[in-house]
Amino acid sequence: MITEHRDFQLRPYNTFGIEARAAEFIDYTDARDLSDIFPLAGVARWLHIGGGSNLLFTRDYDGLVLHSSATGVEVVAEDDETVDVRACAGLGWDDFVSMCVGRGWTGAENLSLIPGEVGASAVQNIGAYGVEACDLIRRVETFDTENRCHRTFGVGECGYSYRDSRFKHERQYIVTHVTYRLSKQFKPDLSYGNLSSILAGQEDRLTPAALREAVIGIRRAKLPDPEVTGNAGSFFMNPVVSEDKYRQLLSVYPSMPAYKVAGGVKLPAGWLIDRCGWKGRSLGRAGVHPKQALVLVNLGGATAEDIMRLAATIEADVADKFGVAIKPEVNYI
Ligand code: EPU
Repeated sequence: MITEHRDFQLRPYNTFGIEARAAEFIDYTDARDLSDIFPLAGVARWLHIGGGSNLLFTRDYDGLVLHSSATGVEVVAEDDETVDVRACAGLGWDDFVSMCVGRGWTGAENLSLIPGEVGASAVQNIGAYGVEACDLIRRVETFDTENRCHRTFGVGECGYSYRDSRFKHERQYIVTHVTYRLSKQFKPDLSYGNLSSILAGQEDRLTPAALREAVIGIRRAKLPDPEVTGNAGSFFMNPVVSEDKYRQLLSVYPSMPAYKVAGGVKLPAGWLIDRCGWKGRSLGRAGVHPKQALVLVNLGGATAEDIMRLAATIEADVADKFGVAIKPEVNYI
């Protein structure tokens, strides 16, 4: 079913809670509807959104905004050890994780409570506490808006890397379904940060539900709830610098955390921003979260200009102090 609106308020469709209007808005409940929606007659441009948890509307959108309300889930393959679950793009990501944990399908617990929808998990390659969506994804089904046909990509064809995929760049593909492989045997990944210390002593009797609760507890303690305080999670990506640059910084900042990755060393942008003194500070109605400097928040009534000005000031300060360029993870629309 297709539902069309004109001059539509996008505030409930972005977790920053920014006021912006779309000239047209279409919500659809079945991926097959896309063949009726495309090609678009007389539409200047279009944008497909998910939960709106990774974007910033910088002005009214003078085209068509599309959203899927398809939320179905089905098991498409199963053996003694694993289960392949195909979920529709419009299903809330955490609803999916919760359902998996409830049915004893494990692997997604570390990704609990990440805002957004199933479709975006595959576009954005969401990640937390040592697990990324691409670790679970088997297949991504899309609608190719240029050729007006459905096209399926195996995980190896999706171009996954840190918070990146081909779907972020090849915008003609709309993700319609994602198939994840979950495990029936619980092999918890407690490698990240304080997860193992929080669960210390429980290793032998740890359950997927307890791991999910621990992750939810960490997130609730560190990250603002978008229902209460508008935000889009990490505003910036963690930058990767060369080994030389890392050694040079380490000699000045011996306590700087860092992670070795392919192509260099990843630095936590939150740490860099924190050391610039931004944690808990604000500019206009936009602020830096007091418990995690990577998260910019709408203090109430912020405009996109407020957020962009704060982001640009932080970027400039980090570049000045550390000589490191940080880039937004959030998409400016
Ligand atoms: N740190 C500070 N000050 C801060 C924030 C962080 O000193 O204000 C330090 C921490 O002490 C720690 C390091 O920086 O040593 C890393 O911090 P944290 O463990 O909070 O992780 P992160 O690198 O800041 C990333 C993801 C998060 C994800 C966490 C946990 C990115 C851009 N962000 O944050 O993802 O939840 O790891 O895996 O990769 C999101 O994408 O929206 C998001 C919240």
